[in-house]
Amino acid sequence: MAFIVAIDGPAGTGKGTVTKIIAKDLGLVDIDTGAMYRCVALYSLRNQINLGNSEEIEKMFENIKIDLQKENDILKVYLNDEDVSSIIRTPEIDKQTTIVGPIQLIRRKMVDLMREAAKGKNVIMEGRDIGTAVFPNADVKIYLDAEAEERARRRYKENCQKHIDCTYEKVLEDMINRDKTDLTKGGLRRAEDAVLVDSTNLTIEEVVEEIEKIIKEKM
Ligand code: DC
Repeated sequence: MAFIVAIDGPAGTGKGTVTKIIAKDLGLVDIDTGAMYRCVALYSLRNQINLGNSEEIEKMFENIKIDLQKENDILKVYLNDEDVSSIIRTPEIDKQTTIVGPIQLIRRKMVDLMREAAKGKNVIMEGRDIGTAVFPNADVKIYLDAEAEERARRRYKENCQKHIDCTYEKVLEDMINRDKTDLTKGGLRRAEDAVLVDSTNLTIEEVVEEIEKIIKEKM
């Protein structure tokens, strides 16, 4: 039986960063499900998919192939064999993802894709609904949270490093709106049996240490 670690939580909690480190430390395959949603957002935008039409959505999924690959320790995201690793991390795609994410048919299709991506592997999968919808029987469930202001500060810093034009105020506003969508229409929910880790006042190393301790107890 494969070993599954589910890491859920809102944007900017450091899920991606800690997941990568833990995967490497403990020999797990890490799966960034946000990147998978971002691919669908990019595809739907480029191909002007009518998201109100379920047949178009079904067809879109027949034409989408997403591959997540590690190259020199860096996650590369391929959409139909095109490297989209950078394009999917822009504010435009952030916005489109909040439009595709709440569509129930898309969420159902994504659950199938995520289970397929994990098949037969020992994985650490990060997202919003991994411990609830994708792997309700995961061996370890973590809900990583942090205050919105701190998460916005982190995202703002990240954007500046990538030379994405923005202000802290705008990033905070977007973050609060994204939380609202994630919590109401998106799949963000804390599983009852998930361990809550609050990263507001913790360094990445401290978060990694805390989560690895929980995982090692179950391994
Ligand atoms: O983690 P992220 O910021 O890369 O996620 C991008 C978007 O995808 C975000 O708006 C929430 C959505 N998402 C989701 O609805 N369910 C998941 N399992 C992962 C991401």
